Order: sequence, then structure tokens, then C-alpha cells
Amino acid sequence: MEGLDSAPATKPRSGDNSYRAYIGGPGRYDVLAAANFNVLIQAGLREKHRVLDVGCGSLRLGRLLIPFLLPDGYYGIEPNQWLVDEGFDRELGRDIIELKQPRFLYKDDFSVGEFETTFDYAIAYSVFSHSYPDLAGLGLRRVGETLADEGVLLGTYFEGGPEVVHAKPDNPLLARNGSGWLYPKCVRYSWEEFEALLHENGLVGYRFTRPDRGKQTWFAACRPGAERYAIRASRLAADPPWVEPTPTRSERLKAQLAPSALKSAARRRLKR
Ligand SMILES: C[S@@+](CC[C@H](N)C(=O)[O-])C[C@H]1O[C@@H](n2cnc3c(N)ncnc32)[C@H](O)[C@@H]1O
Repeated sequence: MEGLDSAPATKPRSGDNSYRAYIGGPGRYDVLAAANFNVLIQAGLREKHRVLDVGCGSLRLGRLLIPFLLPDGYYGIEPNQWLVDEGFDRELGRDIIELKQPRFLYKDDFSVGEFETTFDYAIAYSVFSHSYPDLAGLGLRRVGETLADEGVLLGTYFEGGPEVVHAKPDNPLLARNGSGWLYPKCVRYSWEEFEALLHENGLVGYRFTRPDRGKQTWFAACRPGAERYAIRASRLAADPPWVEPTPTRSERLKAQLAPSALKSAARRRLKR
């Protein structure tokens, strides 16, 4: 959510009552879809994985993710069912529902345990950015409980940054003391505060930056014991050079033909 958008009144504004504007950044609907899809791909997502899209809105990401994943791979939770309906009707079409069997919960309490499954990846873009600690804590705990053993939650929160905080210390957009959901304004957290919230709710987290991050800061989190997967995801997705996860034919050939030192490096590369 572009909480500090100052677009002219004639343009759609973040939070406006249309399926694209309501979820923020209406002029960047395409770019944000691609950016969030890229985060998942660069963090290691493959079509076989099961993904939870937290606060899936009007399927900005879902319109790329649902076709990409194998059937029964996509799960979304969203309190505003009208957004999901508009996403299907105006972006994706409904034929794909039969083909890919996406599943949805229309709830505001993060009760994702009701899906009765576990997730390889969960993604929550611009959801905790609007959640005060009580609601964010509930969400982190409930999402964390559904992560697979090697599962990773990728999400964003809103730091604001010193330029925002110092320029406008009384800005209500940066409200910190409150309860529940704040929209379209943002709740600001320092990394230390957000990391503590992750810990309190059974997760370990790593912050990372993206060239396309806008005003949101990304984190990768996991349950204790899966740290290496969250660290790996955060490193691969951070300011990324593209990493091709599947070895190409020429890489496989090189691994077979290379002298022994090169061979072991190539083998390591193949194992990754
Ligand atoms: C800024 S939008 C982001 C939408 C989506 N993640 C994306 O990036 O396209 C925030 C979304 O969170 C949803 N939301 C509001 N309260 C929520 C809650 N308690 N649990 C989950 N999602 C919530 C909103 O309806 C909205 O769709």
C-alpha cells in the first residue's frame, strides 16, 4: 500500500473503492504483480509448491500465481470477498477455478489453519504494514503455524524511514499506538520492533531490500529450525542478480567435462 500517495484527486488513489485502487498503487497494478511474483520466484518458488497469499485482495499477484502453480497450489485469505470476485471477473476469468482449484477464505482473523494444509511459501505484501501489533501478531502466529517444515513467509512491513519520520513527526499516517487494522494509512515499525513481534509469535525473520521495494520493507520468516531456508530465500530475493535455479544443459555438460576443481564447484552449483 502506498500509504503516503499524494496523487491528484482526479486519478484513482490508494484505498479508493475500485478493485485496483483499493489495494494501493493503482497505477502500478502490473508492476507490483510482477515484483511480488519475482520475489517468490527468486526466493525459490516452483510450480509444485503450495502457496498462501495473505490479504490476496483483487488477485494482483494471484492472476500470475494461480496459472503458474499446479492444481491445488494456491490459497488466498481476504476479508473483502468483492475484491477476489472482481479479480476473477475482470482480470483472470473463472474458467481457471476448475482447472487450478484455488481456495479462498473470506476472513479477517488470519484463521488459515482452516485450510487444513501446510504451505511451502506464504506471502503477505502490504498487510502487516496496515496492522497494529495485536493484529499483526495474530497474523504472524497463525500463518507461521501453517508453514511446512521448510516453509518460508515472505512479507512486508512499513518502516517509513528517517526522511518520513523526521519530516512529519505528527503525521497520522505513521500512527503507532492502536489496535487492529489501519487503512489506507500505515502502521510504522522499526526492524527491531518487527523482529521482536516475529519472535513473540514463534518466528525467526530476516530483513532484505529490493530495488523495487517502494515504501515497503521485505522480510523472510520461518519457524525455528528452518532458518537456512529463510536466510536462503532472503538472500536470493534481495537486490537480485537473476539466479537460474535449474541447471541448464550446458551447465550439466560443463560439470561432466570440467577438471576436478571446476567439477566440484559445478557439482555444488547443481546441488543448490
Ligand atoms: C494493501 S492491500 C494488498 C493486497 C495484496 N496483498 C496485493 O499486494 O495485491 C491489503 C489487503 O489486505 C486485506 N486485509 C484487510 N484486513 C485483513 C486481515 N485482517 N487479514 C488479511 N487481509 C486483510 C485488504 O482487504 C487488502 O486486500
